[in-house]
Amino acid sequence: MRVHRVADADEGGRLAADVIVGALAPLAHPVLGVATGASPRPVYEELVRRFACGDLTTNDLRLAALDEYVGLGRDHPDGYRSTLQREVAVPLRVPVDRLLVPAAWESDLDRAAAGFENALRALGGVDVQLLGIGANGHIGFNEPGSPLDGRTRVVSLDDRTRRDNAVHLTVATEVPRSAITQGIGTILEAGRLVLLAYGRSKTAAVRAALYGPIDSACPASAIRLHPDVVVIADSAALDD
Ligand code: GLP
Repeated sequence: MRVHRVADADEGGRLAADVIVGALAPLAHPVLGVATGASPRPVYEELVRRFACGDLTTNDLRLAALDEYVGLGRDHPDGYRSTLQREVAVPLRVPVDRLLVPAAWESDLDRAAAGFENALRALGGVDVQLLGIGANGHIGFNEPGSPLDGRTRVVSLDDRTRRDNAVHLTVATEVPRSAITQGIGTILEAGRLVLLAYGRSKTAAVRAALYGPIDSACPASAIRLHPDVVVIADSAALDD
């Protein structure tokens, strides 16, 4: 695991973009695993700049989401499908049919979760997976207590997560109570993980993830089971 201390999220965005472009550029059919939240936004902005400069070709790029809220509907602006379309796919000129998101708007959620796993497998898996980290140590929406070998499934969201995520809502009045998320086992199958963490609200989670026991009390600790991990964090998140 390589841990990079950066001054701020903009420097982290440039570094993460280097890692992503370096890993994906040689691939004929690259798959980038994308996350929502504030931490990855500067990464997407930097990828768009590199695309404009010709450093990144997005012809064959596919995007795969980590998770999606249950109950908002497929095209709700606060849903992760719409968010990732707006923040990543459209600016990178990736057609929306190349953005894979768990179909948490369907009536049979277990079927939707299994369908996502199958679709991911059909793509050949994720080459580089971007991850944020929740203040409680979650990755994707794998809350504390999630099995480290879990697959994509329906989960309930912790109150803390629902409070933290309320700031990202633009239209919905209430953060949904459940979601479909890639499982930790699914996430660990990506070729490379890039975890981003900024600010004091993440210090305890980052400490547990990097130095605590590897167990489901801190889902992000599972990244240490992966052979190719890049952590990009500021001093506040690294507790210095
Ligand atoms: C949500 C997402 C996570 C993300 C987290 C942190 O809960 N489901 O994938 O890591 O937010 O977001 P932020 O980067 O805004 O702190």
